[in-house]
Amino acid sequence: MSIIHRPRRLRTTAGVRSMVRETVLTAANLVYPLFVVPGTKVKKEISSLPGNFHLSPDMAVEAARETFAAGIPAVLVFGLPEYKDERGASAWDMKSPVQQAVLAIKQAVPELVVITDVCLCQYTTHGHCGLLNGHKVDNDPTLPLLAEVALSHAKAGADMVAPSDMMDGRVAAMRKVLDHNGFSDVSIMSYAAKYASAYYGPFRDAADSAPQFGDRRAYQMDPANSREALKEVALDIEEGADIVIVKPALAYLDIVRQVKDEFLLPVAAYNVSGEYAMVKAAAAQGLIDEQRLVIETLTGMRRAGADIIITYHALDAVKWL
Ligand code: PBG
Ligand code: ZN
Repeated sequence: MSIIHRPRRLRTTAGVRSMVRETVLTAANLVYPLFVVPGTKVKKEISSLPGNFHLSPDMAVEAARETFAAGIPAVLVFGLPEYKDERGASAWDMKSPVQQAVLAIKQAVPELVVITDVCLCQYTTHGHCGLLNGHKVDNDPTLPLLAEVALSHAKAGADMVAPSDMMDGRVAAMRKVLDHNGFSDVSIMSYAAKYASAYYGPFRDAADSAPQFGDRRAYQMDPANSREALKEVALDIEEGADIVIVKPALAYLDIVRQVKDEFLLPVAAYNVSGEYAMVKAAAAQGLIDEQRLVIETLTGMRRAGADIIITYHALDAVKWL
């Protein structure tokens, strides 16, 4: 049989396959999220995110060491505060868990890149990502508060701040306040295209950040839209974003690819809590091979154009590479 083209020739051995592999996934591509809580010596598994933990700042340092030792260059720090109020004041309190953890991590593992999530939903009694005016999240009065949060993180030593609130104009507001306070080297990794998604469920349990009424559809994006994602990214870049995030990842890989093709800055995909929880649930039932599935999924995100992947699988994944 004479067939001219036999693509299978380049699949015959592991050696040949490795020569023609187009996409690489390495530890350097990953960011590991940490959930920091008040107290000391706290390390409690998060039931909605099995294998991930609520950590007091001292224990977050241990997790940071482990992450860095695994070759993962960065952590993304989320906080659960001691107190909540209408305005989310614990979000910019230097005594809150995020600020304390960042200080301690930068002291213990200075080379680890510390990124902080900037939002108000974990810190407000109502669970929305901004100030309320009646039942509406009021954009403009929220901006100075978010900038204050970013500044407090920078003061604690954060290398990058990652606004996840989806208010218009927040990147510019943060850039200005950071620059005016001597933090012009602190980067902004913006959640530029963040969709209103059911995939955030396990995170909201983990972070105690579910809205107490309504939903986030008046500020997060409609899952049906892609042109709007490009607009959001373009605006954040104009305002000074250094890296943009597309979130969630799996159902939005077309967005990752479009952003990658359209713009010149690094693109991060956020492999969110619901994506993680589905894998863990299926693996627990013996329905899938977790190792293979995780590496396949993360490789798919890289192939779609993600330079960076934020993932709860990070520590496991590096063991399986
Ligand atoms: C807070 C925030 C959320 C996530 C990251 N930052 C949840 C939300 O918008 O309700 C989701 C992360 C995940 O699901 O893994 N604004
Ligand atoms: Zn929020």
